[in-house]
Amino acid sequence: MLLRQVHFTAIIVVCIPIIFAVFVFVSYFHDGTLNVLPSHLSLRPSHDDVKPPAQNAASHSTSAPQVAATGKAPSNVENEEAPPVINTPATEQKVFPQNEWLPARPIDPSCAHLPDLSKILLIIKTGASETFDRLPTQFMTMTRCLPDFLIFSDMEESIMGYRVQDVLKDTLEEVKHDNGDFNLWRRQQSCLVDQKSCQKWSNVGGEAWNLDKYKNVRQSDLSYRMRPNYDWYIHIDADTYIHWPNMVEMLKPFDAQKDHFFGSFEPSQYGDFNHGGSGYILSQSAMKKFQANSSVEHFDHEARNICCGDMLMTIAVRENIALANTNMFPTINGRKPFTLPFGPRQWCQPIATLHKLTSEEVASIWEFEQERIANATDGKPAPLLIKDLYYQYFAPRLVDKLEDWDNMYDDYLTNVWYYLDKDDKSKDWEHFPDQKYIWHQRKPEDFKHDEEKKAHTSFNACKKACDVVDECLQFRWQDDACAMSKNFRLGNPTEKRENQKERWMSGWAVKKIEKWIADQGECKVQFPGA
Ligand SMILES: *[C@@H]1O[C@H](CO)[C@@H](O)[C@H](O)[C@H]1NC(C)=O
Ligand SMILES: *[C@@H]1O[C@H](CO)[C@@H](O)[C@H](O)[C@H]1NC(C)=O
Repeated sequence: MLLRQVHFTAIIVVCIPIIFAVFVFVSYFHDGTLNVLPSHLSLRPSHDDVKPPAQNAASHSTSAPQVAATGKAPSNVENEEAPPVINTPATEQKVFPQNEWLPARPIDPSCAHLPDLSKILLIIKTGASETFDRLPTQFMTMTRCLPDFLIFSDMEESIMGYRVQDVLKDTLEEVKHDNGDFNLWRRQQSCLVDQKSCQKWSNVGGEAWNLDKYKNVRQSDLSYRMRPNYDWYIHIDADTYIHWPNMVEMLKPFDAQKDHFFGSFEPSQYGDFNHGGSGYILSQSAMKKFQANSSVEHFDHEARNICCGDMLMTIAVRENIALANTNMFPTINGRKPFTLPFGPRQWCQPIATLHKLTSEEVASIWEFEQERIANATDGKPAPLLIKDLYYQYFAPRLVDKLEDWDNMYDDYLTNVWYYLDKDDKSKDWEHFPDQKYIWHQRKPEDFKHDEEKKAHTSFNACKKACDVVDECLQFRWQDDACAMSKNFRLGNPTEKRENQKERWMSGWAVKKIEKWIADQGECKVQFPGA
């Protein structure tokens, strides 16, 4: 009995170390680390084994512009020698180099899917009446992987550590003084509580618009002085969304050491200007000259006499450095998925910017991007095309009719035409709500089909006319006017009117839309100007 027990103990004493040794040996060759202990108790700091992600290398290179601009080194580069702390995750958390305008931000691993953004400076123009509605969502999505960006506004404030500068603080006193455009600017500064409560009883939208035009020229001047070392300076509004892979791809063929001023053209009495909400982009060389030949005081005065800051910026670039703007439409785009007119002008092109997005829409596009990345086998989805927005946002909602709905919204007028009866004496045509009806009415002598004669009389008559006009892909009827379009888009709900005749009724030629799409076939992807 005793002998057996001794025997058994001997077997245990001999075998356990052998089993343990085999286990250690197998674990070691299995994944190259001594993985016998839970990772947080590991004897070696696990981050020694983790290679820095590519994005981190990119973020380091941005510290140069900061040093140049602020004259001091970034205060919080990650500490390479950090001792292992119990309960920290095994992978080291990388952070963007901090600067005085941005809070400390961890680098999201998903940023590794984006191209190098370290040569691009994003400049967001906003106003204190909208900052808290728009920016927090942008921080969580579109700006999340940017090593650096600047925010210019009409009041200095901090949004959870993101600092917003008042670009109007140096606007000439003689321009501000006695100038109603600056009433909001003055009220914002004297507000004792939150801005929403202070501006509740005023027409903030209109006032913010009037103030906005004083910002563009000054913000270009100031951003170059603060950050002189970037290749590209992208100026957007707080409700603009950038799809970074396409933006980087679009800029790739161009030399930042040459003068460039890219945007999306909007016609005006001063010629085509680069629309601000769509976003416009200046090269290093153009920014440098613009700043060197800066005449911000002159344009402080000029702003009083013009509607809009983006128009003024295009004029200023032309006058100061003799540089003409370049149209990158529709890749640079002033619309968004629900209001972008799909059709002959907008289908196969890659999309880099969208505009007028609510926070809900920004979040939705960002999630769509993440899903495309997750679905792509190598994490690199094909370039996002305008038609991809159709499939994601419009196709699942396409029906033949919606009541209290406006699918026309506003349009490039060459693709829209109207039917109405100018002989109808019951209507005040001089004050008819939408004068575009009258400018673009289809003349009876141009009618090719009998159905067009009655198109204005009812929604059903409008639909019947659309059915026989080959190019009509959607239509809308309201108040004895029928509108047709070669484009198709979802549009927006409208207020429900009591009077049946005044209700907005929208329809789509679903079969013709599906045929038009089938006829387009595969897209040949081409970036503008490439
Ligand atoms: C503007 O400044 C640059 C120097 O950065 C200079 O080379 C250029 O000639 C100036 N004038 C114009 C009209 O560009
Ligand atoms: C991702 O793949 C799933 C499954 O195939 C599909 O249902 C979904 O539509 C895809 N999403 C995108 C954005 O491509």
